[in-house]
Amino acid sequence: MFLTSSGLTGMLSLSNMKKFYVTTPIYYVNDKPHIGTVYTTIVADVLARLHRQLGDEVMFLTGTDENSLKSIEGAKKAGMKDIQEYVTGMSSTFRETFLALGLSFDRFIRTTSNEHKKAVELFYKKVKDKGDIYKGFYEGLYCRGCEAFITESDLVDGKCPFHPNKEPEKIREENLFFRASAYRDQLLEHIDKNPSFVQPASRKNEIVNYIKDHFTDVSITRQSMEWGIPAPDESGQVLYVWFDALLNYLSGVGFGLDQDKFSKFWPADVQLVGKDIIKFHCALWPAMLLSAGLPLPRTVYAHGFYTVNGQKIGKSNNNTIDPLDLKKDYPFDTIRYFLLREIPFGEDGDFSFERLKIRYESDLANDYGNLVMRFAAMTEKYLNGIVEPISHATVKDAALKLFVDLKFSDGLELVWKRISWANKEIDSQKPWVLAKEEKTSEIRELLGKIRFTIQDATEALQCIMPETAKKVLEIVNQGKIVAVAEPIFPKKHDE
Ligand code: MSP
Repeated sequence: MFLTSSGLTGMLSLSNMKKFYVTTPIYYVNDKPHIGTVYTTIVADVLARLHRQLGDEVMFLTGTDENSLKSIEGAKKAGMKDIQEYVTGMSSTFRETFLALGLSFDRFIRTTSNEHKKAVELFYKKVKDKGDIYKGFYEGLYCRGCEAFITESDLVDGKCPFHPNKEPEKIREENLFFRASAYRDQLLEHIDKNPSFVQPASRKNEIVNYIKDHFTDVSITRQSMEWGIPAPDESGQVLYVWFDALLNYLSGVGFGLDQDKFSKFWPADVQLVGKDIIKFHCALWPAMLLSAGLPLPRTVYAHGFYTVNGQKIGKSNNNTIDPLDLKKDYPFDTIRYFLLREIPFGEDGDFSFERLKIRYESDLANDYGNLVMRFAAMTEKYLNGIVEPISHATVKDAALKLFVDLKFSDGLELVWKRISWANKEIDSQKPWVLAKEEKTSEIRELLGKIRFTIQDATEALQCIMPETAKKVLEIVNQGKIVAVAEPIFPKKHDE
């Protein structure tokens, strides 16, 4: 049993992990963050806060992927000659945006940092010493959008399905190759024996088929590139951006620099990725780790894609919503709630302003906000602000358990059932009638249960809506409850 912030007791059996290491993909810096890219970081933030609440020692890593061709293109577009200066500026835009949104990362890794480069060199050496790097000729297609070598079988109408506006380039050059195919069987066996490795389970077949049919040795360098980490001991070869970028998950926790930290946090517990980059994370990445003799992450979770009002997010559709703009219209907690409630995590979904407004008004302002306001006002009016919480049906542990399993919308649905119950209980017992009949003990019993329910539900919501939860707990945890002057979720007016 443990004591929660409100002094209530609950079971601490939800997590027996001592440490919790969660990662996001690192972001390309050719564009500023938009709601799609911020989504993964919000989910990681929810998990980080949740595990801190459960008493785990958390490492939440995010950062920027800077050694990409996209950085050269981005600098050119911005009219900047100095690529390093460009990526430094863009990287801090990401960092500052995440901070402004209250995202509680523990480390922000940059792939142009010296510590990352050192980790990459060390890792490269391990793989080379194992005999898994050899010279060869690469001849084939390269998609600049994916930053990946692609095969004819990947193409749809002659174009990459993820980047139909970018013609794949034909490349023929001498490269270094990573002997990924040597790990094919071991990987398939790992996926088979560890159902939690590829999540959601619906993605497993896609990965297994890919590894069986298409997973070959991978070219891990590019010739005569002006930007990136040079392959150690190989003049004229620069490491392929994915080989370098994936290693941020190791360099971010001290690989090669701080062995204690590294052995404490690695392997990662949850690596969040978008569905477009699942192959890199569930095939290339674990093969690299197997070659280097390192343990594999416990779970790689691929989420779906958000569209905006039905359209793919992108500059060409002129719909890249800046999360900082959204924050001006809605408290950011509202956006977090919406993103996690509206679409079951893992599936694709639409960010519709109409749906956001509906969720805001009905779930947040009407159901939750009103419940807290009514409770505070009635407790002040009928009980002089004094009421003890009365233990009642709890939702917290069940909801947190669902959140631990990344079933955010299911957990939130459960919490809202309790919130609805509380509102209905007030409506049916009508404390204003009980007051006329001077039935104070009935009012005390009712509001005691309501107080407990608000505390219990709000403690479950802490990781999803941290600022709101703090505000609500301050209201309901006071010795003497007073009516709330300002609505917790003010009414929105259309311009
Ligand atoms: N740099 C690589 C990742 C390297 S990780 C070793 C990359 N960067 S990215 O900036 O293009 O994308 C980062 C993440 O944002 C990916 O997980 C991608 O799937 C996600 N999203 C980009 N647009 C998105 C939406 N519209 N909706 C949801 N997620 C989106 O890939």
